[in-house]
Amino acid sequence: MKIISVVGARPQFVKLSPVSRALAGRAEHIVVHTGQHYDDLMSDVFFRDLGMPEPDVNLAIGSGAHGAQTGAMLAALEPVFEQHRPDWVLVYGDTNSTLAASVAAVKLHLPLAHLEAGLRSFNRAMPEEHNRVLTDHAADLCLAPTAVAMGHLAHEGLADRSVLVGDVMTDVLYAVRDRVLAAPPALPWGDDRSVIATIHRAENTDDPQRLRAVIESLADVDRPVRLLAHPRLRAAAERAGITLEQGAVTVHDPLPYPELIAAVLQGSGVVTDSGGLQKEAYLLRRMCTTVRPETEWVETVDSGWNVLVGNALGELAVAVTRAPAPEPTDQPYGDGHAAERVADVLLTGPHPVR
Ligand code: UD1
Repeated sequence: MKIISVVGARPQFVKLSPVSRALAGRAEHIVVHTGQHYDDLMSDVFFRDLGMPEPDVNLAIGSGAHGAQTGAMLAALEPVFEQHRPDWVLVYGDTNSTLAASVAAVKLHLPLAHLEAGLRSFNRAMPEEHNRVLTDHAADLCLAPTAVAMGHLAHEGLADRSVLVGDVMTDVLYAVRDRVLAAPPALPWGDDRSVIATIHRAENTDDPQRLRAVIESLADVDRPVRLLAHPRLRAAAERAGITLEQGAVTVHDPLPYPELIAAVLQGSGVVTDSGGLQKEAYLLRRMCTTVRPETEWVETVDSGWNVLVGNALGELAVAVTRAPAPEPTDQPYGDGHAAERVADVLLTGPHPVR
């Protein structure tokens, strides 16, 4: 069996790593990188640190407006898919790379599987929400990370093509956590118990007034805040004349994955607008404060480990200091073996009906 995985952005490289491992020796697995992320710290470092070979194909599309970027990927993917005619095109998450590969696959009548299907923010202003809804409805097989995601898929009439596999990011996280605990990597700021912060979503970066308010709320925190600055954040701050480094905040480059996990483990909490990091904080049992009005990972909030501040930025500094929530009694993100289930489903069924 031949499977093409299409990835392009940082969180997709993390998701690819356990899936690649689970498919090794069981299928011919071709990895296509769209080039949506291209900086060493946003791309190559993940392949190196997570023990993955270089992608088989790199389309080197780079940055651009949503339509131009997605369209360029779509056009570049078509000949690759035509050449290989895979049994499955496997797409991950909710980025423009995900949507481009989904449309390319559907146009060529190639079976499409969507990993991390069924997540919903119900916020149509987010580019990720369009990407994931359109991809789920294009897919022949929806591989869902949680029971809540399965519920959304059923509600949208997609139950007969959906399978609950668990969350593959949990697989990677547990493996890397154990490695990091055994041999902790050095962090750029030594060993203080900082708050780890990431802000990169368009909703927070692209409106200067909003960005200023977010940075000011981080500056007010009563302990060091290590802001791991995505290139989009740096560029937006520079454009708007906003100084990121103020009050409690010091600015650092994005961290490679093992260092990020070490930083969260060592830190006293997380402030983020990333999806993955909310879940990582929960799984590492660090309190998370999310700078968004809603989340797709609702289990983190229901369990008390994550608080959404949304527009109530004045509450951020206090939210960061709250005490840990009670130990969860369930495993909403699976047991760390989701990727093996993904491989089983792709290789042996249940197969979609066209
Ligand atoms: C993308 C995803 C988002 C995901 C995030 C992970 C979409 C719509 N969004 O957002 O869901 O959470 O990746 O990081 O696909 N840039 C660089 N170097 C890079 C990559 C980006 O400098 O290697 C800069 C460019 O100025 C670019 C900007 O960051 O225009 C935004 O990059 P883009 O890929 O469009 O979206 P992200 O914000 O990274």
